Amino acid sequence: MNHKSKIGAILSLILFCSVLTKAENNSKATLEKKRIEQRVDSVMRLMTLEEKIGQLNQLSSSEKTGPELSKSNNMDYVRKGLCGSMLNVVGAEMTRKAQEIAVNESRLHIPLLFGYDVIHGFKTIFPVPLAETASWDMNLIEKSARIAAIETSASGVHWTFAPMVDISRDARWGRIMEGAGEDPYLGSLVAAARVRGFQEQLNNNTDILACAKHFVAYGAAIGGRDYNSTDISERTLYETYLPPFKAAVDAGAATIMSAFQDLNGIPASGNEFTLRKILKHDWNFKGFVVSDWGSVGELINHGVAKDRKEAAKMGLNSGVDMEMCSLTYVDELAQLIREGLVKKELISNACRRILRMKFKLGLFDDPYKYCDTEREKNLIFTPQNRQASLEIARKSIVLLKNENHILPLDKNLKSIALIGPLADAKPEMIGQWPGKGEEDKAVTLFAGLKSHLPENTKLVYAKGCQIDDENESLFDEAIQTAKNADLVILALGEGKMMSGENTSRSNLELPGVQLDLAKAIIKTGKPVVVILTNGRPLAISWLNSHAGAIVEGWILGTEAGNALADVLVGNINPSGKLPVSFPVVTGQVPVYYNYKSTGRPYVPNEQWVTKYIDCPNDALFPFGFGLSYTSFTYSDIKLSDSKLQPNGEIIASVDVTNSGSIDGEDVVQFYIHDMVAQTTRPVKELKDFKKIRLSAGETKQVVFTIKPDELRYYDANMNFIAEPGDFKIFIGTNSRDCKEAIFSLEK
Ligand code: GLC
Repeated sequence: MNHKSKIGAILSLILFCSVLTKAENNSKATLEKKRIEQRVDSVMRLMTLEEKIGQLNQLSSSEKTGPELSKSNNMDYVRKGLCGSMLNVVGAEMTRKAQEIAVNESRLHIPLLFGYDVIHGFKTIFPVPLAETASWDMNLIEKSARIAAIETSASGVHWTFAPMVDISRDARWGRIMEGAGEDPYLGSLVAAARVRGFQEQLNNNTDILACAKHFVAYGAAIGGRDYNSTDISERTLYETYLPPFKAAVDAGAATIMSAFQDLNGIPASGNEFTLRKILKHDWNFKGFVVSDWGSVGELINHGVAKDRKEAAKMGLNSGVDMEMCSLTYVDELAQLIREGLVKKELISNACRRILRMKFKLGLFDDPYKYCDTEREKNLIFTPQNRQASLEIARKSIVLLKNENHILPLDKNLKSIALIGPLADAKPEMIGQWPGKGEEDKAVTLFAGLKSHLPENTKLVYAKGCQIDDENESLFDEAIQTAKNADLVILALGEGKMMSGENTSRSNLELPGVQLDLAKAIIKTGKPVVVILTNGRPLAISWLNSHAGAIVEGWILGTEAGNALADVLVGNINPSGKLPVSFPVVTGQVPVYYNYKSTGRPYVPNEQWVTKYIDCPNDALFPFGFGLSYTSFTYSDIKLSDSKLQPNGEIIASVDVTNSGSIDGEDVVQFYIHDMVAQTTRPVKELKDFKKIRLSAGETKQVVFTIKPDELRYYDANMNFIAEPGDFKIFIGTNSRDCKEAIFSLEK
């Protein structure tokens, strides 16, 4: 056999083995699924109707994350087998105690599922999700979730109520902080990365069930007011709000949480169209749906259920499998069955979905596998975890302005004044949904600068004002401190309870008298660098016109101060890009990059066009925006062909050059615009991006492959298709500054 045929034989053998392994793995997975179903069947056969309903009942510990709904003694429900899950019970010891009651004192010894809100870290706190998204680094985002899962599972908890994947275009809505911003493509990638981080195989003791929430379109709250109604077209639902949930389900998310608000007139926690038709039928979702805090009971407040009995009926019939905290299922379902108003198989199906997850986690084999106090001590808040938090915090920071290269800080500065209510604010580094993060362990900007600035640079701190009150009595001290320094760092922004749940703001300006403080400090004529600590886009036009530099520092978690100082002193060249648009003024909101052109697209100095008479249409800082300490130049787009065949592909490429003197990273973004379609199309849609690193002076070719599938949209009849016609593509460093080219999709 000659050399060539030997290689051929070896390659075919390798291929055969890999096919065999794949087939073997598939058959193993199939066998495992069958085995679990058989074990679920065996338990279901033993259960009474009441015990099946009990699995659908979730109760909270005394650490409430919503309004008080019952004074009942939870553990009585557990002893009677009338509780399948508890939330806010945390710690190897605490969960063991509760689990022992369920396993030893209930008739069938079915273990409990423990859930908790691990939104951006458990004990080691990571940047809030909106900040992490600004890294545009899916590997780091997955790693962040993985570490959160390890710490959470070491604390006895099996399930996190995350990722929150609600798209939001309205910065008045405080929960924009918990999500991945305004774009469905980026939001889908982040959703999948976080699910992968939480759930690897589900059969070890470091995995936790993910819970994509809040299903669905909760972020479209009218007026940006939390819990408010949402009313959107079916096309907007499918194009904007559903994709990240589909990505989470495709990534294997074990659970979904139904939302509080009414969607097009039907509350999300009683919405058969979204829960049963889209999620369980069309998407074939096999996990289970848990309602958000009390949202089944709130069907009464919505006016779609006369009483708790009707609420229970609507919740179960619509597809909510587990009821969080409002106890209508455990109080009303048995009677509804007896009256023939609810089908028994709906209860069995919901119970099966929940038991399936308990078997997948291995809780029937070892109910205490997560309740190991030794493991808890060794795996939580480790130096490695803090380092990982620092790493992603550095990448989440967005440089919004840097006039005359005021940053990175000159190493020869003799003195720096650090002024502002967010300069030495531990709670604000952790933010809302702090998990078990300890505020006193957070590194503030002041602490970070003290450890990073050169010996010869004096750092003087003055608070200047509170975060959100009208008191100006500290101004004078701050102004004097500024006058005595070579440069001022102004630390401004929001308080920890000013973003997250139920924190909607009608005004996106800096709170309190912070802007007045900024004006007084800038009036001294000193160079001023602004560091923002905030969980949402703010309206910072005045600062943008008057400050020398602006750094978007978000809410960066335990290592916030170290990450910010790394960027300010130049250890790190910032590379973050905005996942949300920043408005010029609050009145512009909702403002987002993927808007429609309208019949009268804006043209400068034209009268009969879509515009405001007192504000530009464009955001102050657009989606995808972020500067670097270096600069990047883009060549014109090269297309491999101007015609894309129906089953072909074409290549679009640009050469990106680091034309500055510092190594750096840029996120090369790829957008399309369907120039003529059956429905109006966004002026841009993000379809791909590549985060690249370039040494000073280096040039790299960045390539994007365009296939017909990426051009699909919901046509006039809601068919998801790609239509022949002309398409414009945009490649650039943000959604505004792009090179353009046109190609056509052929018939
Ligand atoms: C809250 C939130 C939800 C959270 C749940 C449990 O009200 O809306 O995001 O997961 O209750 O704490």
